[in-house]
Amino acid sequence: MRFLITAGPTREAIDPVRFLSNRSSGRMGYALAGAARHEGHEVCLISGPTSLDVPEGVDFLQVESAKDMYEAVRDMQRGVQVAILSAAVADYRPVAVAMQKIKKDEGEMVLRLERTPDILGSMRSEFGYGGVLVGFAAETQNLLENARKKLERKGCDMIVANDVSRPGIGFDSSMNEVTLVTKDEELHLSKDTKEHIALAIVRRALEFIS
Ligand code: PMT
Repeated sequence: MRFLITAGPTREAIDPVRFLSNRSSGRMGYALAGAARHEGHEVCLISGPTSLDVPEGVDFLQVESAKDMYEAVRDMQRGVQVAILSAAVADYRPVAVAMQKIKKDEGEMVLRLERTPDILGSMRSEFGYGGVLVGFAAETQNLLENARKKLERKGCDMIVANDVSRPGIGFDSSMNEVTLVTKDEELHLSKDTKEHIALAIVRRALEFIS
């Protein structure tokens, strides 16, 4: 099988030296890529900036912004049987990127933001992707309810619901605890290393291929 996995944060430029981003380390996505490869599959890992080593035998594409990631996923999804989008893509980016470093001034500064492209939401409707589609939902409240809404709205087979309000799991941690939400069930995976959680996600995703 061929897997496509997204990982890490994106960076949305404000000026040549500043950007908007988030706390994603990339560990969850790199663990997914390692797990899929370990199980004998071909893997294309598309990642925002991280300091991690790319798992051996994995095809790797480094991107910076949500737009870059959108274009890379659009171009690489052909021939893929399982796509797992675990990246923490920025939802907003500055409307305009300053060509020069913005000089500080007295008083407040207002930054106008616009939405970034929705990569997960484009998989079915714009890219015509027909394989197994797994998204993540990083939530701080109404975890399962929001995950189920995402499952339906984005045409996913499974959503990995991740409570990111809890310390010791989720963003920038070696551990995670998630619930796999599908049309018919909710399967809770107890707190474990991201490598073990990743293996369970990969194996569950493959069950959609009969
Ligand atoms: O990187 P780590 O430090 O290991 O942390 C792991 C993690 C917490 C980042 C990971 O487990 C996780 O929860 N990833 C999803 C983070 C996220 O941004 O979730 P979201 O609920 O905002 O997005 C929902 C889904 O849409 C995700 O599959 C996301 O990749 C996707 N998305 C979001 C915005 C956007 N513009 N395009 C997208 O495709």
